[in-house]
Amino acid sequence: MERKIGNSKLILKIGDITREKVDAIVNAANSRLAGGGGVDGAIHRVGGPKIMAECQEIIKKIGILPPGKAVATTAGNLPAKYVIHTVGPIYRDGLKGEETVLREAYLSSLNLAKKLQVQSIAFPSISTGAYGYPVQEAAWIAIKAVVDFLEKEKDSYEIIFVLFDEQTYIAYKNALELYRL
Ligand code: APR
Repeated sequence: MERKIGNSKLILKIGDITREKVDAIVNAANSRLAGGGGVDGAIHRVGGPKIMAECQEIIKKIGILPPGKAVATTAGNLPAKYVIHTVGPIYRDGLKGEETVLREAYLSSLNLAKKLQVQSIAFPSISTGAYGYPVQEAAWIAIKAVVDFLEKEKDSYEIIFVLFDEQTYIAYKNALELYRL
Protein backbone atom coordinates (compact mmCIF):
# COMPACT_ATOMS: atom_id res chain seq x y z
CA MET A 1 0.00 0.00 0.00
CA GLU A 2 1.05 3.56 -0.63
CA ARG A 3 0.20 6.94 0.85
CA LYS A 4 1.25 10.49 -0.04
CA ILE A 5 2.42 12.59 2.90
CA GLY A 6 3.38 16.18 2.13
CA ASN A 7 5.76 16.00 -0.84
CA SER A 8 6.74 12.43 -0.03
CA LYS A 9 5.54 8.89 -0.49
CA LEU A 10 5.25 6.19 2.17
CA ILE A 11 5.09 2.64 0.85
CA LEU A 12 4.45 -0.65 2.70
CA LYS A 13 5.36 -3.96 1.10
CA ILE A 14 6.21 -7.54 1.92
CA GLY A 15 9.72 -8.51 0.88
CA ASP A 16 13.42 -8.99 1.54
CA ILE A 17 15.10 -5.66 2.24
CA THR A 18 18.43 -6.82 0.76
CA ARG A 19 16.81 -6.77 -2.70
CA GLU A 20 15.52 -3.23 -2.45
CA LYS A 21 16.99 -0.75 -4.96
CA VAL A 22 17.06 2.39 -2.85
CA ASP A 23 19.59 5.00 -1.76
CA ALA A 24 19.75 3.72 1.82
CA ILE A 25 18.80 0.48 3.55
CA VAL A 26 18.30 0.64 7.31
CA ASN A 27 19.69 -2.20 9.41
CA ALA A 28 18.24 -3.32 12.76
CA ALA A 29 21.69 -3.78 14.31
CA ASN A 30 23.03 -4.21 17.84
CA SER A 31 25.11 -1.73 19.88
CA ARG A 32 28.38 -3.44 18.97
CA LEU A 33 27.57 -3.47 15.23
CA ALA A 34 28.74 -7.06 15.49
CA GLY A 35 26.28 -8.61 13.07
CA GLY A 36 23.73 -11.21 14.08
CA GLY A 37 20.71 -13.06 12.72
CA GLY A 38 17.53 -11.64 11.23
CA VAL A 39 17.78 -8.65 8.97
CA ASP A 40 21.28 -7.81 10.27
CA GLY A 41 22.55 -11.25 9.23
CA ALA A 42 20.92 -10.94 5.81
CA ILE A 43 22.41 -7.49 5.15
CA HIS A 44 25.96 -8.61 5.98
CA ARG A 45 25.56 -11.89 4.10
CA VAL A 46 24.36 -10.25 0.89
CA GLY A 47 26.35 -7.02 1.30
CA GLY A 48 29.71 -8.73 1.85
CA PRO A 49 32.62 -8.13 4.26
CA LYS A 50 33.22 -4.45 3.43
CA ILE A 51 30.22 -3.40 5.50
CA MET A 52 31.50 -5.25 8.59
CA ALA A 53 34.98 -3.75 8.15
CA GLU A 54 33.43 -0.27 8.18
CA CYS A 55 31.30 -1.18 11.22
CA GLN A 56 34.44 -2.24 13.09
CA GLU A 57 36.15 1.06 12.25
CA ILE A 58 33.15 2.96 13.60
CA ILE A 59 33.11 0.92 16.83
CA LYS A 60 36.85 1.56 17.30
CA LYS A 61 36.06 5.27 17.27
CA ILE A 62 32.82 5.45 19.26
CA GLY A 63 32.91 2.37 21.53
CA ILE A 64 29.25 1.41 21.24
CA LEU A 65 26.27 2.69 19.31
CA PRO A 66 23.60 3.39 21.95
CA PRO A 67 20.02 2.25 21.27
CA GLY A 68 18.13 4.96 19.35
CA LYS A 69 21.22 6.26 17.50
CA ALA A 70 22.29 5.64 13.89
CA VAL A 71 25.49 5.53 11.80
CA ALA A 72 26.10 4.92 8.09
CA THR A 73 28.42 2.72 6.07
CA THR A 74 28.61 2.07 2.35
CA ALA A 75 26.44 -0.80 1.10
CA GLY A 76 28.96 -3.28 -0.36
CA ASN A 77 27.23 -5.55 -2.86
CA LEU A 78 23.72 -4.40 -1.95
CA PRO A 79 21.80 -2.41 -4.58
CA ALA A 80 21.98 0.74 -2.40
CA LYS A 81 24.46 3.54 -1.69
CA TYR A 82 24.40 3.31 2.10
CA VAL A 83 23.44 1.08 4.96
CA ILE A 84 22.20 3.06 7.94
CA HIS A 85 22.74 0.99 11.08
CA THR A 86 20.47 1.75 13.99
CA VAL A 87 19.75 -0.03 17.25
CA GLY A 88 16.22 -0.52 18.49
CA PRO A 89 15.27 -1.19 22.10
CA ILE A 90 15.20 -4.66 23.61
CA TYR A 91 11.58 -5.00 24.74
CA ARG A 92 11.17 -5.75 28.47
CA ASP A 93 7.67 -4.75 29.61
CA GLY A 94 6.98 -1.53 27.73
CA LEU A 95 7.70 0.56 30.85
CA LYS A 96 11.44 0.96 30.39
CA GLY A 97 11.40 3.72 27.78
CA GLU A 98 11.11 1.29 24.87
CA GLU A 99 8.68 3.51 22.94
CA THR A 100 10.94 6.57 23.12
CA VAL A 101 13.98 4.60 22.01
CA LEU A 102 12.14 2.94 19.12
CA ARG A 103 10.89 6.33 17.89
CA GLU A 104 14.44 7.70 18.22
CA ALA A 105 15.84 4.83 16.13
CA TYR A 106 13.54 5.80 13.24
CA LEU A 107 14.13 9.54 13.60
CA SER A 108 17.93 9.19 13.92
CA SER A 109 17.94 7.08 10.76
CA LEU A 110 15.80 9.60 8.88
CA ASN A 111 17.89 12.56 10.02
CA LEU A 112 21.07 10.79 9.00
CA ALA A 113 19.53 10.00 5.60
CA LYS A 114 18.69 13.67 5.24
CA LYS A 115 22.30 14.61 6.07
CA LEU A 116 23.54 12.13 3.44
CA GLN A 117 21.13 13.74 0.96
CA VAL A 118 19.44 10.50 0.05
CA GLN A 119 15.89 10.39 -1.23
CA SER A 120 14.74 6.75 -1.02
CA ILE A 121 15.08 4.81 2.23
CA ALA A 122 14.02 1.25 3.07
CA PHE A 123 13.24 0.28 6.68
CA PRO A 124 12.71 -3.14 8.24
CA SER A 125 10.44 -3.54 11.25
CA ILE A 126 13.02 -2.55 13.88
CA SER A 127 13.00 -4.48 17.21
CA THR A 128 10.10 -6.83 16.40
CA GLY A 129 12.27 -9.92 15.84
CA ALA A 130 15.03 -10.93 18.26
CA TYR A 131 14.41 -7.81 20.39
CA GLY A 132 10.82 -8.89 21.09
CA TYR A 133 8.81 -5.70 20.59
CA PRO A 134 5.10 -6.57 20.11
CA VAL A 135 4.52 -5.87 16.44
CA GLN A 136 1.23 -3.98 16.67
CA GLU A 137 2.66 -1.45 19.12
CA ALA A 138 5.91 -1.19 17.20
CA ALA A 139 4.00 -0.59 13.95
CA TRP A 140 2.18 2.40 15.45
CA ILE A 141 5.38 3.92 16.75
CA ALA A 142 7.19 3.35 13.45
CA ILE A 143 4.40 4.80 11.31
CA LYS A 144 3.97 7.79 13.60
CA ALA A 145 7.70 8.57 13.62
CA VAL A 146 7.95 8.45 9.82
CA VAL A 147 4.73 10.43 9.21
CA ASP A 148 5.80 13.10 11.73
CA PHE A 149 9.16 13.41 9.95
CA LEU A 150 7.65 13.58 6.45
CA GLU A 151 5.03 16.15 7.44
CA LYS A 152 7.79 18.52 8.58
CA GLU A 153 10.01 18.07 5.51
CA LYS A 154 9.74 20.15 2.35
CA ASP A 155 12.02 17.77 0.43
CA SER A 156 10.53 14.79 -1.32
CA TYR A 157 11.33 11.35 0.11
CA GLU A 158 10.29 7.82 -0.68
CA ILE A 159 10.16 5.73 2.49
CA ILE A 160 9.54 2.02 2.06
CA PHE A 161 8.81 -0.38 4.90
CA VAL A 162 9.97 -3.76 3.62
CA LEU A 163 8.22 -6.24 5.89
CA PHE A 164 9.28 -9.83 5.99
CA ASP A 165 6.01 -11.60 6.69
CA GLU A 166 2.31 -11.05 6.21
CA GLN A 167 1.50 -10.61 9.91
CA THR A 168 3.99 -7.76 10.19
CA TYR A 169 2.72 -6.23 6.95
CA ILE A 170 -0.88 -6.28 8.23
CA ALA A 171 0.14 -4.60 11.51
CA TYR A 172 1.83 -1.75 9.60
CA LYS A 173 -1.04 -1.49 7.12
CA ASN A 174 -3.58 -1.19 9.94
CA ALA A 175 -1.47 1.45 11.65
CA LEU A 176 -1.12 3.51 8.46
CA GLU A 177 -4.81 3.18 7.56
CA LEU A 178 -5.96 4.26 11.00
CA TYR A 179 -3.37 7.00 11.48
CA ARG A 180 -5.07 10.41 11.20
CA LEU A 181 -7.91 9.11 9.03
N1 APR B 1 14.26 -8.21 5.02
C1 APR B 1 13.33 -7.56 5.75
N2 APR B 1 13.02 -7.88 7.02
C2 APR B 1 13.66 -8.95 7.56
C3 APR B 1 14.65 -9.69 6.87
C4 APR B 1 14.93 -9.29 5.54
N3 APR B 1 15.86 -9.91 4.80
N4 APR B 1 15.09 -10.67 7.71
C5 APR B 1 14.40 -10.57 8.85
N5 APR B 1 13.53 -9.55 8.77
C6 APR B 1 12.54 -9.05 9.77
C7 APR B 1 12.15 -9.98 10.90
O1 APR B 1 11.22 -10.95 10.44
C8 APR B 1 11.50 -8.98 11.85
O2 APR B 1 10.16 -8.70 11.45
O3 APR B 1 13.07 -7.92 10.44
C9 APR B 1 12.32 -7.70 11.65
C10 APR B 1 13.30 -7.37 12.77
O4 APR B 1 13.84 -8.55 13.32
P1 APR B 1 15.38 -8.74 13.71
O5 APR B 1 16.20 -8.79 12.47
O6 APR B 1 15.47 -9.86 14.66
O7 APR B 1 15.75 -7.31 14.44
P2 APR B 1 15.52 -6.82 15.96
O8 APR B 1 14.30 -7.38 16.57
O9 APR B 1 15.69 -5.33 15.90
O10 APR B 1 16.74 -7.45 16.77
C11 APR B 1 18.04 -6.97 16.59
O11 APR B 1 18.97 -9.14 16.21
O12 APR B 1 20.11 -9.89 14.34
C12 APR B 1 20.23 -9.38 15.61
O13 APR B 1 22.30 -8.14 15.50
C13 APR B 1 20.90 -8.02 15.61
O14 APR B 1 21.24 -8.15 17.98
C14 APR B 1 20.48 -7.52 16.96
C15 APR B 1 19.03 -8.01 17.06
